[in-house]
Amino acid sequence: MLIRNEIDSDIPAIRAIVTEAMLMLPQTSGTEANITNPDITDADIVDRLRAEDALILSLVAEDGGDVVGYLAASMARIGVECDWGLIGPLAVLPSRHGEGIGSALMAEAVLRLRATCKGAALVGDPRYYGRFGFSAFSGLGVGDCPPEFVQALPFDAVDPQGELIHHPAFGLKQQG
Ligand SMILES: CC(C)(COP(=O)(O)OP(=O)(O)OC[C@H]1O[C@@H](n2cnc3c(N)ncnc32)[C@H](O)[C@@H]1OP(=O)(O)O)[C@@H](O)C(=O)NCCC(=O)NCCS
Repeated sequence: MLIRNEIDSDIPAIRAIVTEAMLMLPQTSGTEANITNPDITDADIVDRLRAEDALILSLVAEDGGDVVGYLAASMARIGVECDWGLIGPLAVLPSRHGEGIGSALMAEAVLRLRATCKGAALVGDPRYYGRFGFSAFSGLGVGDCPPEFVQALPFDAVDPQGELIHHPAFGLKQQG
């Protein structure tokens, strides 16, 4: 399996994987619903970030010539601190879950973000992201989302504090 940057011809497969994988979310955890704009799908968010040139990472996992996983990252702010890398969406083809594809995408993303960002942040299931070093921080949040689902991995010694401000492409109503 190869983790690489997206190329134009990956875009339909990325849309399909993100759409298919996210259909599983309501059964796994409803947490993202707390922050998601119902009018914008995760696949739309990727397209909107791409259209605004806001994807700082757009990684695909390729296996046997097929795209089987995808991870996006965009710039974010936490409180007044710029230069955080926001990971998401992360999606793996459902038929390929549990093979380490998500972990490989996460490892590459964290490695790359370390070079350019203060830290990485995301909204997701702490039972999954804890294994990559992410954790919740007192005072770190996104709107009404339960705080345990808002997680960060600071690359310096400073704990993140404040609202995790997503790129406008996410369509969230956030106080800047
Ligand atoms: C979450 C996701 C990206 C993980 O991808 P993956 O390639 O299956 O993950 P890996 O193979 O690297 O890791 C699998 C491990 O993670 C665990 N895991 C996966 N999702 C989990 C979750 N929501 N909570 C807790 N553990 C989870 C599996 O049980 C497995 O555990 P094990 O290593 O102890 O056997 C994939 O399940 C997916 O696309 N899910 C639907 C979309 C989604 O939830 N995206 C994340 C948005 S927050």
